[in-house]
Amino acid sequence: ALARRIDRPLVLVGMMGVGKSSVGRKLATLLHMPFVDADDEIERAAQMTIPEIFERFGEAHFRDGERRVIARLVDGERKVIATGGGAFVNPETRALILDRAIAIWLDSDVETLLERVGRKDNRPLLKQGNPREILTRLRDERRPAYEQAPIHVISTRGPHGRTLGKVLKGIQ
Ligand code: S3P
Repeated sequence: ALARRIDRPLVLVGMMGVGKSSVGRKLATLLHMPFVDADDEIERAAQMTIPEIFERFGEAHFRDGERRVIARLVDGERKVIATGGGAFVNPETRALILDRAIAIWLDSDVETLLERVGRKDNRPLLKQGNPREILTRLRDERRPAYEQAPIHVISTRGPHGRTLGKVLKGIQ
């Protein structure tokens, strides 16, 4: 019944490592909706990895491609979309998501983010210095943008089951 009432794509936003893809995939299964990872779509469209895009064309170019990919994703059928951590911070991309989808902000403390980012090695922004400092600074800087999402969920350390429960409560 819940799945039927949701008439727009669900978009997970929040910091790198918070678990947008893991939670998104579980949420999609539960709601019988397709799951799409925006970062994967960007890589597919560009025929390049995200670190390659950053290195060859810079972050501004990446943000532009990210906006175009997300514009296409939020325009179609109902689905669950995981976005890269900076997507919702870009004003144009944020406006698009707020207009056409239901944004869900996942947040964790920096220690938890740090633990979780360790599992993936494709984040050029974390290579620019000390990951703990970068995550702390970005999380503070981005908070005002993330706060504009209508649904806020705190993801605590450990498995994603509890987080999923809170997301489901948030969207009822
Ligand atoms: C970014 C987060 C990454 C990816 C890119 C930039 C960011 O996605 O889009 O490296 O600006 O926070 P994840 O949030 O999935 O790591």
